[in-house]
Amino acid sequence: MRPALRQQIKLEILDEVDSTNDALLRVPSHQIHGRAVLAERQTAGKGRRGRRWQSPPGNVYLSVGWHFNAPASSLGALGLVAGVCVCRALERVGLRGHGVKWPNDVQVDGRKLGGILVELRGARAGCQAVIGIGINVKAGEEVARIGQPVTDLASQPGLPNVDRNAVVAAVLDELVAVLGEVEAGLAEFLEAEWPRWDALEGRIVRVERGPDVYEGRAGGIAADGALRVGVTAVNDVPVSDRAMTFHSGEVSLRRA
Ligand code: BTN
Repeated sequence: MRPALRQQIKLEILDEVDSTNDALLRVPSHQIHGRAVLAERQTAGKGRRGRRWQSPPGNVYLSVGWHFNAPASSLGALGLVAGVCVCRALERVGLRGHGVKWPNDVQVDGRKLGGILVELRGARAGCQAVIGIGINVKAGEEVARIGQPVTDLASQPGLPNVDRNAVVAAVLDELVAVLGEVEAGLAEFLEAEWPRWDALEGRIVRVERGPDVYEGRAGGIAADGALRVGVTAVNDVPVSDRAMTFHSGEVSLRRA
């Protein structure tokens, strides 16, 4: 752990909480910066798009609060930045072959290992971000029931006894180092880092937006974090290759 981390993060460790994100969202705005909440279990863990995040004991449920001197509208790609930080941290504890499935899934071999939920609040002049991170360490049956392929760190080669505290320390370390630097521009950071961790690059994806389904080849991200797709079919009707971008709040995506 970098020495600076201890000075920059005030970590609260709880046995049980409704949601580590909600715990931080209850903190007054002026006290949120540098606060982190880690819980053994969550009774009302939240996933993206209003879904629940099953949170039995044994995994990582972590949220970090950060103040930005920038409007929330400029932080749309913060979840991608957090995903890169989680990937770098997991590499440090020995994981290989993992990446981010845009926008917020940490995956290994096409199976979900973790997820990120960023919640923003604040005014135009500045805003607070709560960055929530769930990582399956020993997923257990409760998590396995969520209906998509999942995995955990303990199932990965060389990691059956992975030290959960080391995972949390590495994630906090990466986040603090990166968040301190990216305010000036998430885009520059992602331009350099995203290609390395992009689990969708070159893959055929199906994107649902409203009533329509777009199919095509994923081709990285735009400066604002939107997914670029070379669309070749809309609602299963072939179209000539059409460059489109999709924003995370408005779509659901799967590999075709
Ligand atoms: C997703 O993949 O849908 C995002 C999952 C985010 C889960 C984490 S666990 C810690 C933090 N607290 C929550 O209630 N959610 C996030």
